Amino acid sequence: MEDRKLIAIAGGSGFIGRAIVGRLSQIPGLRVRVLSRNPDKARATLPLPNTEFIRAEITDPATLGPALAGAVALVNATQFDGYPVENPRKGLTFERVDYGGTVALLKAATCAAVGHFLYLSGAAADENSTHPGFHFKGRSERAIRESGIPYTIFRPSLVYGPEDRVLNTLLNCSSSRQFSSFPVAGDRPSNRCWSMTSPRVSRWHWARARKRSTRLLKSVDPS
Ligand SMILES: NC(=O)c1ccc[n+]([C@@H]2O[C@H](COP(=O)([O-])OP(=O)(O)OC[C@H]3O[C@@H](n4cnc5c(N)ncnc54)[C@H](OP(=O)(O)O)[C@@H]3O)[C@@H](O)[C@H]2O)c1
Repeated sequence: MEDRKLIAIAGGSGFIGRAIVGRLSQIPGLRVRVLSRNPDKARATLPLPNTEFIRAEITDPATLGPALAGAVALVNATQFDGYPVENPRKGLTFERVDYGGTVALLKAATCAAVGHFLYLSGAAADENSTHPGFHFKGRSERAIRESGIPYTIFRPSLVYGPEDRVLNTLLNCSSSRQFSSFPVAGDRPSNRCWSMTSPRVSRWHWARARKRSTRLLKSVDPS
């Protein structure tokens, strides 16, 4: 009989999800199930021990029951394709995928008696926000709080590392000298910038920044 605890993760093939799966797969006594719309592709990019892959689409509740069978915990680290630019024509919106998907995962988790729900929210989550992304993160958090399932909600601001899209785009703009500084707007507590990262990522980022600043100093003062 299988006695390792099963952790299911929706979004396990994504930037943050891959890091979570990588760590969980190393923990003795656990096995990991990645929920993905394309499990073969996800398997090819995550050749990890103790990890299985299953097809699941968070906007299609019928796929979620089998995906959560036997799981003791579920991580939701999904976001719609093309984030943060919505494409309502293709159904790629905060409301349908991020919020609707969270509600569908909660219902499926309740039916499957999953013991804990972990959610990757965001620092600015706020039901009263006029920004659809922040608004639907806030609505998702409320749905989780009211679900009756024990939960953990993470509220990161920017998560960065070798494969992230946001910071690497900014760094590439900065390295091409299109920009030398980046304004950060906002006067609300939710605009404070906190980072969630690992020591490995920090070392990578620090090394990259130091190389770049050395180059910049040499260009100003070649001696
Ligand atoms: N990255 C950041 O700086 C940051 C900061 C704060 C909060 N967050 C939050 O953290 C979470 C993860 O972010 P990320 O940057 O890691 O996202 P990402 O790299 O864009 O990954 C998105 C994931 O969502 C899955 N997905 C998308 N649509 C799906 C659907 N219809 N059904 C099933 N799976 C679907 C994708 O899986 P498949 O393609 O394999 O199906 C993919 O694994 C999000 O909720 C995001 O808002 C991120």
